[in-house]
Amino acid sequence: MASVELRDIRKSYGVLDVIHGVSLSVGEGEFIALVGPSGCGKSTLLRMIAGLEEITDGEVLIGGKVVNALTPRERNIAMVFQSYALYPHMTVAENMGFNLKLSGLSKPEIEKRVDEAARMLALTELLDRKPSQLSGGQRQRVAMGRAIVRDPAVFLFDEPLSNLDAKLRVQMRTEIKALHQKVATTSVYVTHDQIEAMTLADRIVVLNGGRIEQVGTPLELYRTPANLFVAGFIGSPAMNVLDGTVDAEGGEPAVRLSDGSAIRIAPERRVRRGQAVKIGLRPEHFIADGATNTISGRTLLVEPTGALTHVLFEFAGEQMMAVLNQDHPAYHGAIFQAGIDRRQIYVFDRTTGAAL
Ligand SMILES: Nc1ncnc2c1ncn2[C@@H]1O[C@H](COP(=O)(O)OP(=O)(O)O)[C@@H](O)[C@H]1O
Ligand SMILES: [Mg+2]
Repeated sequence: MASVELRDIRKSYGVLDVIHGVSLSVGEGEFIALVGPSGCGKSTLLRMIAGLEEITDGEVLIGGKVVNALTPRERNIAMVFQSYALYPHMTVAENMGFNLKLSGLSKPEIEKRVDEAARMLALTELLDRKPSQLSGGQRQRVAMGRAIVRDPAVFLFDEPLSNLDAKLRVQMRTEIKALHQKVATTSVYVTHDQIEAMTLADRIVVLNGGRIEQVGTPLELYRTPANLFVAGFIGSPAMNVLDGTVDAEGGEPAVRLSDGSAIRIAPERRVRRGQAVKIGLRPEHFIADGATNTISGRTLLVEPTGALTHVLFEFAGEQMMAVLNQDHPAYHGAIFQAGIDRRQIYVFDRTTGAAL
């Protein structure tokens, strides 16, 4: 187990700058998720930690030592990718032990480590099978087993679940979390899926265009996003966003929307009258028939998901989403009405996107 530190890391491919100075400290045993849209530089950053990609500028430290000049093998990391890259002619046990064999470990030692990892991953029954005789989820577990047997200082994951179907993805997510709780190896996990990041990570790093937008625990990012980008990225369904101008309503701070209606905001928001802002309303914060900050509009779509019902409705010329309990009698075409507590209304500067 080791800490990982990035000091002002930059990466350019020729004239193209893709990572613009990223600094980050990952504690020993910590599980960090790097999340952001496709192309924002997640894999590039991870590959620089792994030693698979040259670092244009800055330093990577593992266990307090600068590793810029070390090969991937010398860094003592293990990487799990989206594609499992198992050897088809080898059994599960041989696949898992292959790297140990290369590094010259004795046969009994290899067997011991493979058995241990197999037990942790419920692969014991499958050790003699070939990859072609395994399901997608089992193959991904073997790929993880291959990483675990090396007892690395750091695990690096690059979207390891993206090839699996939705149900299996959720199951494997749970397994990865349980595994981390058992082995507590420092982990950096790349994903574009914010739910995966939220459920797995101790802390999340939100990347956008090669820069860090915010670092925090899942709930910190959810409750106090630093800006509009993080607010829109974290949370599902996504936050509703409306343009408005800061005003007052009945002596209280409010935001005037394009349709002339006013939404009251918390008095501690750092806003000034006339400021162009965007307000953010999380779908799950709507209270059906609530009495404060009431808004209403025509219901466009009702999507029951079981425990919850998603209601798409029209308001201030925009389409808005509300998530309600299953028993809410919403139906297409009816007028939907809901309230929202002013403390749960996010306000962002319209120009900079910064939370106010
Ligand atoms: N070998 C390369 N040469 C040139 N550009 C690259 C190379 N690898 C990645 N990029 C660019 O760097 C940016 C970040 O890519 P990547 O790290 O793969 O993003 P992510 O993993 O977040 O989807 C993208 O714009 C991508 O096109
Ligand atoms: Mg990638």
